[in-house]
Amino acid sequence: IEHIGVFTSGGDSPGMNAALYAIAKAAKANGIKLTGIRKGYEGLIDGDFTTLKPPELQKLSHTGGTMLKTARSKRFMELEGRKKALQTLHTNNIDALIAIGGDGTFKGLLAFSEICDLPFIGIPGTIDNDISGTDYTLGFDSAVNTAIENIDKIRDTAESHNRVFIVEVMGRDSGYIALHSGLTTGADAILIPESGKDFIYLLDKVKNYDSEDAFLVVVSEGDEIGAELVSSKIKELNINVDLRITKLGHVQRGGNPSAMDRMLGIRMGVAAVEQLLNGNSNKMVGVLNNQLHLTPFEEVVKQHQVNDELKALLKLFSK
Ligand code: F6P
Repeated sequence: IEHIGVFTSGGDSPGMNAALYAIAKAAKANGIKLTGIRKGYEGLIDGDFTTLKPPELQKLSHTGGTMLKTARSKRFMELEGRKKALQTLHTNNIDALIAIGGDGTFKGLLAFSEICDLPFIGIPGTIDNDISGTDYTLGFDSAVNTAIENIDKIRDTAESHNRVFIVEVMGRDSGYIALHSGLTTGADAILIPESGKDFIYLLDKVKNYDSEDAFLVVVSEGDEIGAELVSSKIKELNINVDLRITKLGHVQRGGNPSAMDRMLGIRMGVAAVEQLLNGNSNKMVGVLNNQLHLTPFEEVVKQHQVNDELKALLKLFSK
């Protein structure tokens, strides 16, 4: 392997820049040329390239977002787009790829593997933590820390006014951010997509809630649930509560990565280059039980589930 192309795709997540720094370091140490592909699959199709240098990345590795920019590409979902991307790679003599992204990125890689003759390795980068083959994805820890910081602040007002607060956190179809931030901020109720529309315990609890106290609900965004739905269910009870909704939104995606996300980025970035050099392809580098681990893309895109231990915690702390 002489020339690696790297891109970030899907939602940005804290730690992506640290991973890019690590990839640049490892590529340089092995005498490999490195090209940055901008705006995810869009840049792969259009040949929107940039040179990546370790000294520049060194200064950015502690920052959030992605210096390569990112996008959710509709064109890459079509075979035409993927064919064009392959042609662009060949024309530019790129002979291996590293992709950093979430669920959609891996689905794209799996589809690309059907026509692409170049080796590629993926790195899980998403705040949602909804990827199989790794205990944690890049950005999840930082997002949870941001959520916690904000929920703690909301508690101050909730306690002072004896209010019911519904805090909506991100996670698309995944309840990891809600689960972790809800448990660690002492929320009275935590609602995640994995438990479906299970409002019963929340409604029972809020009915008996002491109006001389705060009541904090942390709910994951999603098609099935979300802050508005929870709010309307509580209002249907016709009890006298002073209720407010706060949606944390994209603040959860930004900010400097936590120590854990920086280390994850560094470990997975170096491992991605090494795995390409070892002849591996079509696999994601993850960390399981604190050990680097390779998982084939077919496994990565399978529905990721909240594990039983966390489900048991949710049950215990919901009582
Ligand atoms: O996948 C990361 C994520 O932040 C989800 O938690 C959220 O549902 C989604 O991206 C929001 O996407 P966008 O920034 O495109 O609105």
